[in-house]
Amino acid sequence: MFSKDTYIARREGLKKSVGSGLLLFLGNDEVGRNFEDNYYRYRQDSSFLYYFGQPYAGLNAVIDIDNNREIIFGDELSIDHIVWMGTQPTLHEKAHGVGIDTTLPSADLRKYLDAARAAGQRIHTLPTYRPEHQLKLWRLLDILPGTDTPSVDFIRAIVNQRNYKSAEEVEEIERACNVTADMHIEAIRCTRPGMKEYEVVARLEEVAAANDCTLSFGTIATINGQTLHNPCHSNTIGPEDMLLVDAGAETPMGYSGDMSSTVCAGKKFTPRQKMVYDIQVASHRAAVEMLRPGVKFLDCYEKSAEVICQGMKDLGIMKGDPVEAVKAGAHAMFFPCGLGHMMGLDDHDMENLGEVYVGYDGKPKSTQFGRKSLRLARELEPGFVLTIEPGVYFIPELIDYWGAEGRFKEFINYDELNKWRDFGGIRNEEDYLITPDGARMLGKKIPLTTEEVEAMR
Ligand code: GLY
Ligand code: MN
Repeated sequence: MFSKDTYIARREGLKKSVGSGLLLFLGNDEVGRNFEDNYYRYRQDSSFLYYFGQPYAGLNAVIDIDNNREIIFGDELSIDHIVWMGTQPTLHEKAHGVGIDTTLPSADLRKYLDAARAAGQRIHTLPTYRPEHQLKLWRLLDILPGTDTPSVDFIRAIVNQRNYKSAEEVEEIERACNVTADMHIEAIRCTRPGMKEYEVVARLEEVAAANDCTLSFGTIATINGQTLHNPCHSNTIGPEDMLLVDAGAETPMGYSGDMSSTVCAGKKFTPRQKMVYDIQVASHRAAVEMLRPGVKFLDCYEKSAEVICQGMKDLGIMKGDPVEAVKAGAHAMFFPCGLGHMMGLDDHDMENLGEVYVGYDGKPKSTQFGRKSLRLARELEPGFVLTIEPGVYFIPELIDYWGAEGRFKEFINYDELNKWRDFGGIRNEEDYLITPDGARMLGKKIPLTTEEVEAMR
């Protein structure tokens, strides 16, 4: 944890920003996987971590701005719990560690909220992303599950703090990025034809565990890189396959790294693979070169998409003006996802609070296929931490779907495209901090080009 002053200052900033009412923070509970005592790995809610630091289940908190009170609600461990799971700091110690003097039993939270409602106080809540949160709101506020209305003022105030990473946060994120880079370097070094994807997963996840880290999201390691979030690890890696790895470490404090790499199964990429790989790298670099305060991330996305379209045109797969193709949305045949996302306590930072607030500053998102998947579009500011991860994907089902409709025939040469339909997909991903005059890559460098990958094989 950071020092208690960090948490005190964050809560002070939040109180000032929201101004009035009562802020309700629901901590996360343990969740049984297949029976109650067989939990998923516990993860505290990230906003709870940000303001209250404590990574323990069974806590909720209130910042009562109107009455200037901060309270953590929880219960001391029972002897049964201690026998089963060991001890923890007392509730008072947990609260004291983050500069809070008042603790109350969990059962008192409902009474506290009843009194606040009776006094006409506004109770600000956040969007729910776990059924347990909806059930808690139902029990605490008499709101039927799924009918809560999150407070936009509360969301915006949190986003306006968490989007700007402090120096101590950047240090922690960089630690996650360094471990993440080592995970990728291990995967790039160890991948061989004949291995199962899961054997590579075992090797790279060992790196996280050996550095006292967990995973910031479920590892992707697939020879079917055209599936953007492929969770399957059971394929055998063939001699001419590429393995797309997207994996990240999470530090014990909850900060994330998130990188991707694409490695050839053999010692060298095939000439065809290299042609597409070079396009992906050019697109990646074009976006990185634009990173600085004042630039809209949407423009970085447009630029990276244009570079992909130009590359596809050079291969004879696309035709026409790349800028017009991107405007129309034809690039989404190859790049149907975003360019990157904010990163911090979550891999996709604050996605639970709403992409529109985090990545769009409250402005509406496009509904166009491809462009609608852009998680970040707003003007960049110093302190933002984000990923850069354009990809080039050949998705047979999408080729057939659009092809049958003749969609974007003026930009896509379907006869030529069909010759590439089984190519797969390529993505490389790095993490950046926006600085006052540009951007700084976070963590050790991982191979980006075919030459850099081959040098490690
Ligand atoms: N690394 C997974 C993602 O960005 O979606
Ligand atoms: Mn990512």
